[in-house]
Amino acid sequence: MSVETSKTGWKGIVLAGGAGSRLHPVTLAASKQMLPVYDKPMIYYPIATLMLGGIRDILIISTPTDLPRFKELLGDGARIGCQFEYVAQEAPRGLPEAFILGADFIGSDGVTLILGDNLFYGDMQFFRNALARHKGGTVFGYPVQDPERYGVVEFDETGKVLSIEEKPTAPKSRYAIPGLYCFDNRVIDVAKNLRPSDRGELEIVDVIQRYLDWEELRVEKMARGIAWLDTGTPQSLLEAANFVATIEHRQGFKIACLEEIALRKGMINRKQFIHLSEELSKSAYGGYLEMVLRDLDG
Ligand code: G1P
Repeated sequence: MSVETSKTGWKGIVLAGGAGSRLHPVTLAASKQMLPVYDKPMIYYPIATLMLGGIRDILIISTPTDLPRFKELLGDGARIGCQFEYVAQEAPRGLPEAFILGADFIGSDGVTLILGDNLFYGDMQFFRNALARHKGGTVFGYPVQDPERYGVVEFDETGKVLSIEEKPTAPKSRYAIPGLYCFDNRVIDVAKNLRPSDRGELEIVDVIQRYLDWEELRVEKMARGIAWLDTGTPQSLLEAANFVATIEHRQGFKIACLEEIALRKGMINRKQFIHLSEELSKSAYGGYLEMVLRDLDG
């Protein structure tokens, strides 16, 4: 069905599990990654990021309770030129478990893990650059005012990585590590050989540390023009929604419209796209898809 069949050597995983406890009570009965960020479900944003990198084989990992709803929302991905697969994470045992649960799906490819509550906006060239390298691992550094909430990377004056720490009480730098990680195929073995930390989970910083020990880690500082937002608290969720609404209202373009990305990247053809816009025609979202067509027609 799809227009473009090129193989990138990369698989994508969206980790959309967790209890969302910082968003209780709403997440007592609803999946965090299903909540709207302005006009679309949160999970659309990380999926859009993967698609903009050219990744179309995507595994969605969520809790046994929430997984059926994601399947209902996203299906097998064919309608947007992707292939979606699903695996349940029985308990929140840490981010690296995604590489273990996804081992069969990853096969012999490299893998990008993106967290289901991370939203990126801007020129995604930094991500495509990372995907152009097939050996080693790439993670990113993004300056924030509250690094203690994140994995933190410390650099020396030449840009060499000195340390990586998870949620340090006294951060050694302002550079947080966003939830977007690219690793070669060895990450499956790395994850399988990790030991849980004191809080009883496998830690992504331990995976990153292993690549650093091998001297096969790149940490790219993200340019100031990139927005990285997370949506894990009521305040950050509202800020992310306002950010999306502001840009969309100003420009008349939608952020993370999966159907539009699929069309513009040649993952579906015009006829398939028209079909999708007809399905959604009763919503403003569907109206937007019609506008995209008119825009392409010039
Ligand atoms: C996780 C990672 C952390 C990373 C963050 C990005 O933390 O453990 O290293 O900086 O995601 O969102 P969590 O948000 O799961 O506490």
